Amino acid sequence: MSEVRAQSDALVVFGFSGDLASKKIFPALYAMVKKGHLTVPIVGVASSKWDVDEWHRHVRESLMHEDHEGGIDDSAAFNRLLSLMNYVSGNYNDESTFTALKTALGDAQQPAFYLAIPPSLFATVIQSLGSAGLAQDARVIVEKPFGRDLASARELNAVTRSVFPESSIFRIDHYLGKEAIMNILYFRFANSFLEPVWNRNHIASVQVTLAEDFGVGSRGAFYESAGCLRDVVENHLFQVIALLAMEPPAFQSFEALHIAKASVLRAMRPLQPADLVRGQYTGYRTEKGVASDSDIETFCALRLFIDSWRWAGVPWYVRAGKQLPRSVVEVQVQMQPPPQHLFDDSRPAGGRANYFRFRLQPVAGIALAARTKRPGKEFVGTQRELYLGEDDKSEMSPYERLLGDAMAGDRALFTDEDAVMAAWTVVEPALANHGAALPYEPGSWGPDEASALIAGDGGWHEPAPDAPTCKPGAS
Ligand code: BG6
Repeated sequence: MSEVRAQSDALVVFGFSGDLASKKIFPALYAMVKKGHLTVPIVGVASSKWDVDEWHRHVRESLMHEDHEGGIDDSAAFNRLLSLMNYVSGNYNDESTFTALKTALGDAQQPAFYLAIPPSLFATVIQSLGSAGLAQDARVIVEKPFGRDLASARELNAVTRSVFPESSIFRIDHYLGKEAIMNILYFRFANSFLEPVWNRNHIASVQVTLAEDFGVGSRGAFYESAGCLRDVVENHLFQVIALLAMEPPAFQSFEALHIAKASVLRAMRPLQPADLVRGQYTGYRTEKGVASDSDIETFCALRLFIDSWRWAGVPWYVRAGKQLPRSVVEVQVQMQPPPQHLFDDSRPAGGRANYFRFRLQPVAGIALAARTKRPGKEFVGTQRELYLGEDDKSEMSPYERLLGDAMAGDRALFTDEDAVMAAWTVVEPALANHGAALPYEPGSWGPDEASALIAGDGGWHEPAPDAPTCKPGAS
């Protein structure tokens, strides 16, 4: 097994008829083709027995779907996309599918295989690529979740490593391709004012919220095998936490960055059942593909600790869920109050202490909240946010960025095996041993028990509905 450095000369999309391909991958491929960034053959693989007209229609309808990213605004680019595409229909357990794929790949020497398929099929497909002789000089891009727990992640890793060298394995986490999340890294280490306060002496607690105002929709069957903790917390939100909590990388290299991030996850205390609240929205059990007695969580709230010199004793609160009041991803870093009580309103009893707020979605921005005196005789003030707005319009969607990087062999924005294993090690104790998923009403912020988890640290701070330029803070 040798390291592949050249540009991939074909892209194979397993899961061509799936939800992820329709919603995110076709728009990304269309954008890449439109910009001239993708000019190599694309082979779709799925079990649907489609003729050419049918899969062409599927790609078109996916791009035109009002709920999906994109649309078609350049018919020449769309026709170019179709002309690069080919489709192989077959069962992933069937050797003949891989023989047909080999034929479809023609002269390609260094294809990239992207696995946008149910996680239970990753190992089967990877092994079949190996036995069909398709893995030589190729790359594999594996969707999340990488495993279901520590043991299965190790097993999947072993299978993957038996077929591909680590340098050809791209474990994708699309959150790492988001501008606002890359900006956490930049903001932390491109500024010098942050570092002196970015530690247990000045930070009281951190809250991370990933809220979605919709349910599982057509993904009920997938969700039944995952749940919220596996779906977005142990991957997307742990990556966000790693960027917020990491030590400065020792030198300028993405290897140093990977080491620093994995060290945060290794220092995280294994999650105890008492530090996890699971919830399930009312109505989930009647969604398509969901068991009528399902205990899968569609919401979870966690209290985490990072037992490092920098973070000892600082609680990290995380909540994520579906059918919450609005779709927003936000981090709030709560600073300690001033040590001396000089003004009546300068301590939490009279208002909230200063904080940093990283708005990651829908409109990115970073805010620093500080108190200023109100005009008048009294020494009382208001906490106001100094707001650094970001243009949310990234040049590239996360999948466009990440698929392009993987095809170019650039591993900077992918997760390495250490980080994946460390993340599973943290959640492992609570995966099987946990309380029942508690019901909550769609449109609420989850079960009441989630509030009890954080009551000692001032409660959840509700993410602001929008991102104004300079606004009064919460108090
Ligand atoms: C995916 C999860 O990985 O991330 C989904 O499977 C979730 O359940 C999605 O909705 C959130 O991603 P984004 O980019 O829409 O915030």
